[in-house]
Amino acid sequence: MGKIILTGDRPTGRLHLGHFVGSLRRRVELQNSGLFDKIFIMIADAQALTDNADNPEKIRQNIIEVALDYLACGIDPSKSTIFIQSQVAELCELAFYYMNLVTVSRLQRNPTVKTEIQMRNFETSIPVGFFTYPISQASDITAFRATTVPAGEDQQPMIEQAREIVRRFNGIYGENTLIEPEILLPDNAACMRLPGTDGKAKMSKSLGNCIYLSDSSEEVRKRVMSMYTDPDHIRVEDPGKVEGNTVFTYLDAFCRPEHFAKYWPDYCSLDELKAHYMRGGLGDVKVKKFLYAILEELLTPIRERRKEWEKDIPAVFDILKKGSDAAREVAAGTLADVRRAMRIDYFDDAELIAEQSRKFQG
Ligand code: TRP
Repeated sequence: MGKIILTGDRPTGRLHLGHFVGSLRRRVELQNSGLFDKIFIMIADAQALTDNADNPEKIRQNIIEVALDYLACGIDPSKSTIFIQSQVAELCELAFYYMNLVTVSRLQRNPTVKTEIQMRNFETSIPVGFFTYPISQASDITAFRATTVPAGEDQQPMIEQAREIVRRFNGIYGENTLIEPEILLPDNAACMRLPGTDGKAKMSKSLGNCIYLSDSSEEVRKRVMSMYTDPDHIRVEDPGKVEGNTVFTYLDAFCRPEHFAKYWPDYCSLDELKAHYMRGGLGDVKVKKFLYAILEELLTPIRERRKEWEKDIPAVFDILKKGSDAAREVAAGTLADVRRAMRIDYFDDAELIAEQSRKFQG
């Protein structure tokens, strides 16, 4: 059995640095490592609709934004299949069968669903589709026989739920029908949960605390210069705190030793820089300028590649169409196995008619 990746994003906006360190960067590395037999990257529009049912236009407009961000980051359509979830109808059928294997109370315990319900003020009226999206996500993953799901920490409960569904399904309908996936988390704590530029828990469009991959150099500069630091670090001489200091959290996520030689040769490591900041005598602006230089080095090629693809939008839609067709074929193969295992493959089972005839002929 080969190693297969499936992962994806909801098309509710352009992708930001949180997406990048949480999963996107890893996907590109894995794609280029050659260690995986197949890679599927899904634009999860159907999942996005579970809490945006009244705003389909938002989802429609963001399909291309997410696709452009993927291509800009180096997802290569000749190596990875990029597709749109809603164009693979087989996923719905799988979810329909998996629903029988999950209890309402199990879904209610899903920590990600719990927080999302709170965030959306859904407490009193949760759309059923939203409530059951972990089941649909299990279909996304298993339809492609994914072994590996590179994703952020917030997706851990989803993968756990998918693993339970696989075990339950295989237990009832036959071992080895479905593959149990594993999550691949970022390897660094800062990347696991990159805070917003205001220091709040997570980058989110509604909080206006994001740095988007497609932001201009000037937009990035402004965001970095207004970033939340240590509120008690008032004068340069004051000792500063690095924990909970967003600029340092971002440095933990993005800074590499060679950045010092290139942009700030006064220091040779992040530890040394942190030590100076904690001692006092190092101003926020200097540290922010360093971070800005590092982010610009990262974002400039991404921005340029995006500009190139933006010149040929029909080509991007063509990639999505071809990817969706290819994805559909793979999902249909898994669905055929699932139907066989569940004994609902009536017209493909030559034995069935003979067996039923014998039964009635006594
Ligand atoms: N839930 C993911 C998110 O909010 C998107 C997603 C849908 C996904 N299906 C998936 C991620 C399957 C990994 C695997 O970003």
